[in-house]
Amino acid sequence: MNEPSNSVNRIEPQVGGLGMVRLAQKAAAWCVQLLLAHTVLILSIMFCAGMAAMIWQLSHLSLKLVQQAALQGTSLHSKSLEEVRKLYTSEVVDRLSDHIQATNDYATKENAIPLPVTFSMELDKRLSNQGIGMEARLYSDFPFPSRKEGGPTDDFEREALRQLRRFPDQPFYRFEDFQGHRVLRYAVADRMEAGCVSCHNSHPDSPKTDWKVGDVRGALEIIRPMDSIIAQSYAGLRDIFWTIALIGVLGLSSLALATSRLRQRSMQLEQHARALEREITQRRQTETELRRAKQAAEVAAVAKS
Ligand code: HEC
Repeated sequence: MNEPSNSVNRIEPQVGGLGMVRLAQKAAAWCVQLLLAHTVLILSIMFCAGMAAMIWQLSHLSLKLVQQAALQGTSLHSKSLEEVRKLYTSEVVDRLSDHIQATNDYATKENAIPLPVTFSMELDKRLSNQGIGMEARLYSDFPFPSRKEGGPTDDFEREALRQLRRFPDQPFYRFEDFQGHRVLRYAVADRMEAGCVSCHNSHPDSPKTDWKVGDVRGALEIIRPMDSIIAQSYAGLRDIFWTIALIGVLGLSSLALATSRLRQRSMQLEQHARALEREITQRRQTETELRRAKQAAEVAAVAKS
C-alpha cells in the first residue's frame, strides 16, 4: 500500500516540476471544494465580472458604431455642399452675362446673384433650419476682409488648415466638446477649380491673387452635435444591462433554490445513514452478547454433564 507514495517521494527531489504539479493539483482541488461549498456566491461573482466585461465591450462597440455613422453622414453632407457649390460655380456663375454680377450683398442689388460661397452658406442655413442638426463653416488663412468669420477661430480650425494643406485628400476630424456639447467636427479641403481661380485672382477684395487650380483655398467644416445620439445609445445599453441583470438574478436564484434543496436532501440522507449505522452497531452488540450467553450456557451444560 505504501509503495507508490514512497516512490513518489523518492522521485520528487529529482524532478522539480513534480512539486509544482502537486501544488497545482492541490490548488485545483481547493478551487473545486470552494466552488462546491459556495456555488451560488462564486457563480454570482463570476456573473457580475462577466457582465461588467460585456457592458464595457458593448459600450465601446456602440460608441464606435455611433461615431462611424456620424462620420458617414457628415462626409455625405459635406460632399453635397461642396458639389452644389461647384455646380453653381460652373453652371451658373461662369455663364453669367456681363450685366449680371455675383456678389455677397445680392439681396439688395439689382441684377445680382449670390456668390458661390454665399449660395452654399445660404443652403446650409436652410438645412439647419429644417433641423438636420448640422452646421457648416467656411474659413481659410487668407480671409476676405468682408468676411468677419473668415479666418480660423480656434485650435481645431488652425490645425485643420495645417493638415488639409499637407493632406488635401484626407478629411480632418475630431470628436470634441464644443460650446458645451459633444460634437463631431469634420473639415475637408476646399480646393480651387478653374471657375473659382478666375474670380478669386481678379476680385478687387481678394487677399491673394495667384491661386492655381487644385490649391487648397480653405476648409469647409461641418459641426455635428452628438449628444442626442450618444444619449440614445446609452439608453439602449441601459436596457440591455437591466435585461441581462434580470436574467442573471432569476438564474442565480433558481440555482440557489436548487442547491439549498439538494443540501437539505443530502442532510436528510446523512441523518438516515447515521441512524442506520447506529442500528447496525447495536445489532452487532446484541449478536456478540447472544453469542457469549450461548457459549456460557454451553460451558455450563458441559460442566453439569
Ligand atoms: C464670382 C466670384 C467667385 C467665384 C466664382 C468663387 N468665389 Fe469664392 N469667394 C468670392 C468672394 C467675393 C468671397 C468673399 C465672400 C464674402 O465676402 O462673403 C469668396 C469667399 C470664398 C471662400 C472663403 C474665404 C475666406 O476665408 O474668406 C472660400 C474658401 C472660397 N471662396 C472658395 C471658392 C471656391 C472653392 C470656389 C469654386 C468652387 C469659389 N470660391 C468660387 C468670390 C468667388
